[in-house]
Amino acid sequence: MKAQTAAHIEEARRLFPHTKKIAYFNSASYCPFCTPVREAIVSNVDQRVAAEQDDSHDAFDVADELRGIYAKMIGATKRSVGIGLNTSHGLNIAAFGLPLKKDDEILVSDIEFPAVIYCFKAAAEARDLKMKFIKSHDHCFDIGEFEKAITKRTRVLALSYVQYFNGFKNDLKTIADICHKHNIYLVVDGIQGMGVEPINVRKFGIDVFASGCQKWMLSPQGCGFFYLSDEIREKIKPPFMSWLGVDWKMQFSDLFHYDRDYFDSAQKYEFGYYAVLNLMGMKAAAQIIQDLGIGNIRQHNHGLIDRLASYIRSNSFYQITSSMESLYRSSITTFTCKDVKGLHRELLKDKIILVNREGSIRVSVHLFNDESDIDKLIGVLEKFAKDK
Ligand SMILES: Cc1ncc(COP(=O)(O)O)c(C=O)c1O
Repeated sequence: MKAQTAAHIEEARRLFPHTKKIAYFNSASYCPFCTPVREAIVSNVDQRVAAEQDDSHDAFDVADELRGIYAKMIGATKRSVGIGLNTSHGLNIAAFGLPLKKDDEILVSDIEFPAVIYCFKAAAEARDLKMKFIKSHDHCFDIGEFEKAITKRTRVLALSYVQYFNGFKNDLKTIADICHKHNIYLVVDGIQGMGVEPINVRKFGIDVFASGCQKWMLSPQGCGFFYLSDEIREKIKPPFMSWLGVDWKMQFSDLFHYDRDYFDSAQKYEFGYYAVLNLMGMKAAAQIIQDLGIGNIRQHNHGLIDRLASYIRSNSFYQITSSMESLYRSSITTFTCKDVKGLHRELLKDKIILVNREGSIRVSVHLFNDESDIDKLIGVLEKFAKDK
């Protein structure tokens, strides 16, 4: 990593007050607020308390800016990106809006996060579609099993970019190539990779990409964005519509017009007025990620994970349960041992915040973590293993 970037990441740590007291490794659940996010939200609250000016247009400007920022982050055009309520927003556009016919098949993995499953399950019931599960191997999505599951009726594969419980990063490029060969739409839940694992939706050939921003994107809970490829936008049947899916040309003083055109962009699928406080937080957070660069953040995170992994490998009491191969690794690492629950309790006692998922300790490493956090974690691991 260039010295310049390392200095920036060090500076970024200072933006997170929690780092003075705790070692936080739970960004895969949700992020702590940094000072710029807090200030952006508080300043908007103060503005509303004062109520001195009509600032209702500010939100439209910020939303527009954010569409551009997110588009750049994922290699898309601004018109293909919409501001979402969460990850589920984008997934539901796909589940209920993709052009599918009775008995068409949707494939999902058998180790998928429920956000991906339930919207397609409901869509399958409502639209007379079939949902089929792809068998995983070693808790990872298996491309061979995916290919075996494809039939003439398969039209959709819905999949996480990074698996929430073990950090396995799917090889989306290879998967997308298979999808295109068989005329299958690829719908990606990007939340566990967005902000830490580079992605280029157009180069990869992803049709729909949905992400909340409350985790690695450092934003408040209950916000996100979605990407709809140009081809999909043309084909989608609106599964819902809000008055702000219509292009009012920012003229809101004369609304008795019911024949206005919808936006000719992903904005058509946004849902009513914005959660403005969230929007302000999203912008402050996105600027930090953008300034540091997702590739640099990834490198920083993986460097810290390597430090942890080399300790874990040196102590036979522990076993790594996530992939460390460069193609499949992410900013989430998991490991197990005898008495995971007991270890989790000890870690929390020492103000090391992380979770226990599916029998492993899940360590989510982000830009505000540094070697001192990792060493604190290793210190507890060392003591716990000795006491057992
Ligand atoms: C893979 C994955 N998808 C989706 C979500 C959340 O979905 P939503 O943003 O719709 O609440 C999570 C975690 O909360 C997740 O880990």
